[in-house]
Amino acid sequence: MSFRLPFLRKREKEFQESGKLKNIPSHVAIIMDGNGRWAKRRGFPRVAGHKEGMEATQRAVRAATKYHVDTLTLFAFSTENWKRPTSEVDFLMRLPKEYLHIYLPELMEKNVRIDTIGDLAHLPKHTREAVKNAKEQSKDNDGMLLNFAINYGSRLEIVRAVKQLIKDYKDNQIAIKIDDLDEETFSKYLYTNGLSDPDLLIRTSGEQRLSNFLLWQCAYSEFYFTDVLWPDFTEEVFYEALLDYQKRKRRYGGI
Ligand code: IPE
Ligand code: IPE
Ligand code: MG
Repeated sequence: MSFRLPFLRKREKEFQESGKLKNIPSHVAIIMDGNGRWAKRRGFPRVAGHKEGMEATQRAVRAATKYHVDTLTLFAFSTENWKRPTSEVDFLMRLPKEYLHIYLPELMEKNVRIDTIGDLAHLPKHTREAVKNAKEQSKDNDGMLLNFAINYGSRLEIVRAVKQLIKDYKDNQIAIKIDDLDEETFSKYLYTNGLSDPDLLIRTSGEQRLSNFLLWQCAYSEFYFTDVLWPDFTEEVFYEALLDYQKRKRRYGGI
């Protein structure tokens, strides 16, 4: 097939010169949205979209490693997603195991470390064990950190942090006075303790909202919204987001 759109040719050229992207975000977070709509448009059941989304996830991981992102955080399942029909939830809960079964060897080869944020304790045992095993196997890898948000909700994360902080205070586990409590200390109680804040947040499917994702951590993140549905996500979409990021002027309230 020799027919190519000029746009694609131009992009391809930029791909080849991609070493010239000056400003690579250290931490990219993605709200992987639009699986259901992708399936519906094809007359498939919603879960077919989730299955296809798994491949898109790996394309995102490959792109992020290729451009030397340090941390990639992927929103896989929210604390609100339990509202969905049981059959869909069950399917989603089987995906981490399936994904890791297929792709863990490639992740290991790419020196990727796997971690999670969210409440894993309330996941089915088979999901928990697959994730635990992947974390264990990859714990010494020092390449990109691939961080899955599973059963994650930012408000729950903040409430959980407050509870733990109060407990530690009462038990004299934390050596500060209440008046001295600052953002740095507080953020240590979040699931994201030790991680930098996302520099770039991508959401697919055309929705422009956070849906309870990383509310605290995205205070100064750059947002990139695309209409592409998650199963259609490619390296090129990732690259578009990186290109757009090059134009951003981050001021953090300064001038
Ligand atoms: C994202 O796709 C996957 C999860 C939320 C688990 P959706 O399932 O939300 O797809 P849409 O938004 O209904 O199209
Ligand atoms: C956010 O997408 C959660 C994930 C991508 C895992 P949703 O599809 O659940 O968000 P809403 O309901 O459209 O806000
Ligand atoms: Mg959705």
